This record gives sequence, structure tokens and C-alpha cells, in this order.
Amino acid sequence: MSEASQQSRTDAAIEVLRSRRSGHNFDASEDIDEETLEAIVEDATLAPSSFNLQPWEFVAVRNDDRLDELVEIANGQEHIAEAGTAILVAGHTTPKTADRVFDEWVEAGRVDAETGDAMREQTVAGYESDRAGRDYAIRNASLAAENILLSAHARGLTATPMTGFDFEAAAEFVDLPDDAIPVVLIAVGPSGGDEPERLPRRDVEEVLHYETF
Ligand SMILES: Cc1cc2nc3c(=O)[nH]c(=O)nc-3n(C[C@H](O)[C@H](O)[C@H](O)COP(=O)(O)O)c2cc1C
Repeated sequence: MSEASQQSRTDAAIEVLRSRRSGHNFDASEDIDEETLEAIVEDATLAPSSFNLQPWEFVAVRNDDRLDELVEIANGQEHIAEAGTAILVAGHTTPKTADRVFDEWVEAGRVDAETGDAMREQTVAGYESDRAGRDYAIRNASLAAENILLSAHARGLTATPMTGFDFEAAAEFVDLPDDAIPVVLIAVGPSGGDEPERLPRRDVEEVLHYETF
């Protein structure tokens, strides 16, 4: 890649991540189309995950009546209905993709069969406690969620991540299986205009620690 194209790639990516906002101003008269939704979810699936387990699921709610119900589940957050699409990002609390994924490591020639088995066993053992399962679900699915936010923003859309909702009610509402938990709900849709100024961020000097805290 030439230096100039590398620079424009860098500029574009940095601009997207620095200008991303959790918008609340949606154009209630327009919804994203399915093609765009699928492209955004494809971007989410490219997020990193532990051992490439991809322990996530995305439930898109787009039906108007169901969006109104979701507003109730999310403490009356009307922007969910105005956005037109809400994506519930869920994470697996068990390593249910492990068999398939470690076969893929082996098939791709990245590790031999014995190493693949050892990796699978180690991964499965890592999920033994309920706490570990939840931690893995939240860590991996959160990275996928950030990809949704950046992808939506890069496509000129508005997206807001939310955890201000009743997790149990949301799980029941979208019929999540027992081995998945809701991690974050994201409202996505065309922008309805400007957002208020970003709130202040803690300085790098305050949050960056070298070597030890
Ligand atoms: C874990 C998490 C939970 C959030 N929950 C909500 C929410 O329930 N409703 C909402 O409107 N925004 C929610 N937000 C958005 C934050 O308010 C927003 O990210 C923060 O104010 C910083 O603004 P910015 O994203 O525009 O930079 C949440 C963000 C995160 C990361």
C-alpha cells in the first residue's frame, strides 16, 4: 500500500472513531434497510473473540409494535422506537461453538489435531464457573457491539448502546436460550439531526498508567 493510501485509510478510520456519538436524535420517518442491517452485523462478526469462538448473537427488532414493547422494557427510552431498529447483542455463557471452531483451527492448518484438542479442553475448562461464562459473554459481545457502533457511524447512521433495560424481560422478549445473556441493546437508524456537544472525557494523563497503576 502506498504511503498516501495508508494515510487516507488512517485518517478515515480515526475520524470515524473520534466523531462517533451515542445519538438520541433519530429520523423517526426512516428506517435502515435489511441490506444495511446485514452489512452492519457482518462488521460486528469481524470483531475479535477469544480463540475466534464468536460467542455472540444479534437479535434485530424492527416491528413497530414490538419496538414499543421494547421501549417499555428499556425504561421508556423512546429513541428505540424512533430509531426503527434495535439490536440486542447477546453473549454465550457456554463454549457452544468450541467444537466447530477448534476443528476450523485444525482444518486451516493453524494448529495440529493434538494442539486443537488441547485448546478446546482448555477453553471448555475456562468456562466452568458461572462467573467465567458471564465474563466471556460480556467481554466478547462488547467488542462486537463496538463494531456495530463504529460501522453504523461510518455509514452515516446514528447508533446508541444501552444497558438501561430489564435484562430478564429482554431475554424473554426475544426468546434467548438459557445459555445466552443480553449484553447490550443498540438503537440504530438514520440521524434526525445534530446531537448535543460531547460530555468531557477524562484526559489521557489521568487514565494512562505506565508499567503499574
Ligand atoms: C454500557 C453502556 C450503557 C449505556 N446505557 C445507555 C442507556 O441505557 N441509554 C442511553 O441513552 N445511553 C446509554 N449509553 C450511552 C452513554 O450515555 C454514552 O456512551 C456516554 O454518555 C458517552 O457519550 P458518547 O457515546 O456520545 O461519546 C450507554 C453506554 C454504555 C457504554
